[in-house]
Amino acid sequence: MTISQPKTRDDLIALLSITDPDELQALYDAAYAVKAANVGRVVYYRGLVEFSNYCIKDCKYCGIRKSNDEVERFDTPRDDILAMARWAWENRYGSLTLQSGERQDEAFIDYVEGLVRDIKDLSHGELGLTLCVGEQTEDTYRRWFEAGAHRYLLRIETSNPDLYATLHPQDGHHRWQVRKDCLDSLRRIGYQVGTGDMIGLPGQTLGDLADDILFYRDMDIDMIGMGPYVVHHNTPVGKQVLAGGLDSDEEKRRRLELGLKMIAVTRLFLPDVNIAATTALQALHPLGRELGLKAGANVLMPIVTVPKYRPQYLLYDNKPCVDEVPDQCKNCISARVASVGDTIGLGQWGDSPHFFHKK
Ligand code: 5AD
Repeated sequence: MTISQPKTRDDLIALLSITDPDELQALYDAAYAVKAANVGRVVYYRGLVEFSNYCIKDCKYCGIRKSNDEVERFDTPRDDILAMARWAWENRYGSLTLQSGERQDEAFIDYVEGLVRDIKDLSHGELGLTLCVGEQTEDTYRRWFEAGAHRYLLRIETSNPDLYATLHPQDGHHRWQVRKDCLDSLRRIGYQVGTGDMIGLPGQTLGDLADDILFYRDMDIDMIGMGPYVVHHNTPVGKQVLAGGLDSDEEKRRRLELGLKMIAVTRLFLPDVNIAATTALQALHPLGRELGLKAGANVLMPIVTVPKYRPQYLLYDNKPCVDEVPDQCKNCISARVASVGDTIGLGQWGDSPHFFHKK
């Protein structure tokens, strides 16, 4: 079977519908060839520091949602964050992503701003810096940009506002439109903008997933971080999925496959964006992230979170790398990249070519 470049919503749905193993392989191979031609067979690292799990949001799928009282909340001491940043810089990770639960108070905003400045200083400006700390005002986003952050990740989670509404409390604090407006603010300020979705959510159709890919195009997105939905046992969506018998091995396999297909089809449709092979793939399959690279992803986010806090930053069950320290993650990840036949873009920011193509 020859895979041609998808052009329409129907083309996207047709590719996402593939289940035949030979056709699937042809899809992944075609996407890998497009990756090689457009962004190269080079994998860029974004060391991921999950620095706090306090969160004001109550997303119904997420393990660190405000009302999950099984979670012990933590704030990583500033010096520990800086030590992890230094480790990433010394190990030539190229860039760092600071992620946490969402908070919007002034103390948090100041804290993040200071962290950005300190990390830029300690690495003499060499570490690229991505923030992933949720919905904020345009003013806040601008302060952080001026402090030195140059990329921002904010997943839309789903481009379908009705599906979004089923996954979030309807309390006025979880509004799809606000999230979309945040992406517009980030673009206006000059960030490289990343978004993404969860794949295999209850009630999500292939049409929804095709629309997510069209959303990435229409929003002129530079970086995409998406991954399969993975159950967290103590959340409303997780409980509903478990009660419905919808987390069998077969269902997990299907969600993994859908996640890989989304990477491949997105790569075919948007050849010059950065696409991450996310940790959630590996929660469903030991080789999930390698499979993601083979399906067209070119970014990995090795976990650099302080080891003692890892067990408290569980967005979903079976999260990998929780018992490891950064050195182990580094060795493990480089072996994974080598097994695919890609090389590592050590010491490079690995910016999204798409960001420069539109200038
Ligand atoms: N399964 C998969 N991904 C999840 N996230 C949160 N909860 C889950 C889950 N149960 C993702 C969301 C969020 C990102 C930081 O983690 O997409 O944007």
